[in-house]
Amino acid sequence: MARLSELLATHLGLHFPRARWADLNRGLAAASSRLGMPDTESFIHRLLATPPTQREIEALAAGMTVGETYFFRERRSLDALEQHILPELLRARAAKERRLRLWSAGCCTGEEPYSIAMLLDRLIARDDPWNITLLATDINPVFLRKAAEGGYGEWSFRDTPEWIKDRYFRPQKDGRFKLDERIRKRVAFASLNLAGDDYPSLTTGTNAMDVIFCRNVLMYFSAERARRVVDNLYRALVDGGWLIVSPAETSSALFSDFTTVEFDGAILYRKEASAAAPRFVSHVSAPVADLAQESRHPVGGSVPAAETFQPVQAASLHADSGDGSVPTPEEPNQLSRAARDCANRGQLGEAAEWCRQAIAADKSNPANQYLLAVIQQEQGQGDDAVQSLRRALYLDPGFVLAHYALGNLRQSQGRHREAQRHFDNARASLRIHPPDEILPESDGLTAGRLAEMIESMHSSRPKLAARL
Ligand SMILES: C[S@@+](CC[C@H](N)C(=O)[O-])C[C@H]1O[C@@H](n2cnc3c(N)ncnc32)[C@H](O)[C@@H]1O
Repeated sequence: MARLSELLATHLGLHFPRARWADLNRGLAAASSRLGMPDTESFIHRLLATPPTQREIEALAAGMTVGETYFFRERRSLDALEQHILPELLRARAAKERRLRLWSAGCCTGEEPYSIAMLLDRLIARDDPWNITLLATDINPVFLRKAAEGGYGEWSFRDTPEWIKDRYFRPQKDGRFKLDERIRKRVAFASLNLAGDDYPSLTTGTNAMDVIFCRNVLMYFSAERARRVVDNLYRALVDGGWLIVSPAETSSALFSDFTTVEFDGAILYRKEASAAAPRFVSHVSAPVADLAQESRHPVGGSVPAAETFQPVQAASLHADSGDGSVPTPEEPNQLSRAARDCANRGQLGEAAEWCRQAIAADKSNPANQYLLAVIQQEQGQGDDAVQSLRRALYLDPGFVLAHYALGNLRQSQGRHREAQRHFDNARASLRIHPPDEILPESDGLTAGRLAEMIESMHSSRPKLAARL
């Protein structure tokens, strides 16, 4: 049991001390029958003999994770988002790049990301185009499928204002409630193991985030894993970005790299724009509006729209340049490095400019076309991104990530058959790469892991959107 509990901590992050070994046993039995193993004993032997496959990790997750959630849970942090963080972001971005990136990490059956989507719907006027990414990830494929369907029972509304249900749901004959299609479409669900190394990354679209919700997830992790997850989430945020955990998870030690900010009783963590020492800031203000009220005025009179609020592509990953300054590039690789650094900070216009210069300096390099595609998709320029990816593939027909990116792009445009073709090409191009080879331009993603990502996306289609 000790070895199994260690295995779970390593591969899923989950902490099973001796007191919870009965839960561990139950979870193993559930995972083993899910996988069609003859008995739990043989499954355990298998697990102890070789590292678990992606399929086994997902089955373990389905058997072991806690699916406790509901709409508008822990309202204080959502109030802080609605009354302080989003208005500030919307104001700051209204003049230039009208884009926002939010991520619900450990989204469970979708109540959390959909609650955020509803808040955005209240804040953003429909005819005002904003480019908004609302990514929602979880390790449990069963939860993700439910989330993507958008059908809920009464229990999901156990502490939710009644008007939310009236406005955004349609009662079904079976007593359940169907989420408004407009809200459902705004969230891009994807499978992501927070105990893995797939983030922050270009490939999983988990970088340059303005706000990350990771609530009631870290509490199930070992202290060491929680620390690593928090470090990764820190890197996934833009400077000035916010991390929101549950009140039970706040900790000055665990979040020591962040500045702690209090909004009317909600403790939030902010990644400072400069390398200045973390601080503590407290804001107590008169509430602007309350969720108990049905209507809400868009911030600043004319704010953002929702129809364009499509899942879009992430900018780049890679380590920050450190001091926040853009290098003065001379060589082509310095140019592309500058492009990545800007994209990491969410400065997409500048990033695209550096990228174009890198392309001009080295026309035969497909990686720069790929990087430009990623930036263009993030800017909401899907068709330009397709052209850049085609150019990348013209230069290198075996560029796996470019095939994969085209597949995701087409999928997000609802062109499923075309998407499938690109995924098939990605699979075919993957064949020459050994499973543990790190793919070019992938920020450390191995060929084997990408194959699993394509596979798990395929099995959860049509509604589960994967990321580039
Ligand atoms: C209690 S729910 C929290 C849901 C939601 N964030 C909330 O606060 O209402 C915990 C979620 O974390 C997910 N989870 C657990 N381990 C994970 C891991 N290693 N990677 C990603 N998600 C994980 C579970 O599948 C579950 O959906």
